[in-house]
Amino acid sequence: MTVAYLRCVPTRSDRGAGGRYVLKTERLGLRLPSLDDEEPAAELLTDPAVMQFLGGEVVSREHVPEVIAKWLRRWDENDIGPFVIERRRDRRFIGRAGLLVWDTRQWTHSTLAEAGRHAQPELGWALARVHWGAGYATEAAQAVRDWSREERDIRQLISLIAPDNVASQRVAERLRATPTDTVTLFDSGEAVVWAHPPAVE
Ligand SMILES: CC(C)(COP(=O)(O)OP(=O)(O)OC[C@H]1O[C@@H](n2cnc3c(N)ncnc32)[C@H](O)[C@@H]1OP(=O)(O)O)[C@@H](O)C(=O)NCCC(=O)NCCS
Repeated sequence: MTVAYLRCVPTRSDRGAGGRYVLKTERLGLRLPSLDDEEPAAELLTDPAVMQFLGGEVVSREHVPEVIAKWLRRWDENDIGPFVIERRRDRRFIGRAGLLVWDTRQWTHSTLAEAGRHAQPELGWALARVHWGAGYATEAAQAVRDWSREERDIRQLISLIAPDNVASQRVAERLRATPTDTVTLFDSGEAVVWAHPPAVE
């Protein structure tokens, strides 16, 4: 798969619907989120089928802007975070894929600075239900993984997947990740730590 990057640090001006793609794949463009994404993000965050393995709780419509603000804070704090996935042919918002920092001592969300040597970036993905079954999650995740290695020098990458989340396990397998330990996450119970293969130098 061909992935093109902007070889630069995403900035606030890259944010927003219509904002520049930081990553491009054959079918997808990945950009930073924006508060303008409220409507399509709500499609994702208020759907019980999408949220089942993402903490389990749907987000109420009025709290969607807070979630987007949290996504943006992650970029501010860590210079990594969730990308919005758009389908390039119609610029439709189809989901998110990106990096979240965990503190492995208690498996809580954290920042690179606060967790220090216990910081572990996780590669995650979620698509609006109407876009399942087209290969978009794998395509986006692969692009983010390449970017995180080349542009952020992240050597060890994991994905945390609930034991019952078969669709997500399939994505991990397609990315050639392998299941390792089972841990207990502070917010959503047990998860298997899938280790991504090291980059081919
Ligand atoms: C996890 C999730 C992103 C997986 O979505 P998905 O559509 O199954 O995964 P992909 O986008 O990689 O698509 C792969 C599927 O598309 C099919 N497909 C169709 N066209 C394809 C193409 N051009 N390329 C690759 N796969 C294609 C594959 O056959 C595969 O289907 P299968 O699993 O039935 O064999 C989705 O179920 C989701 O958003 N779930 C809710 C959020 C969530 O749980 N996130 C993960 C938390 S750990």
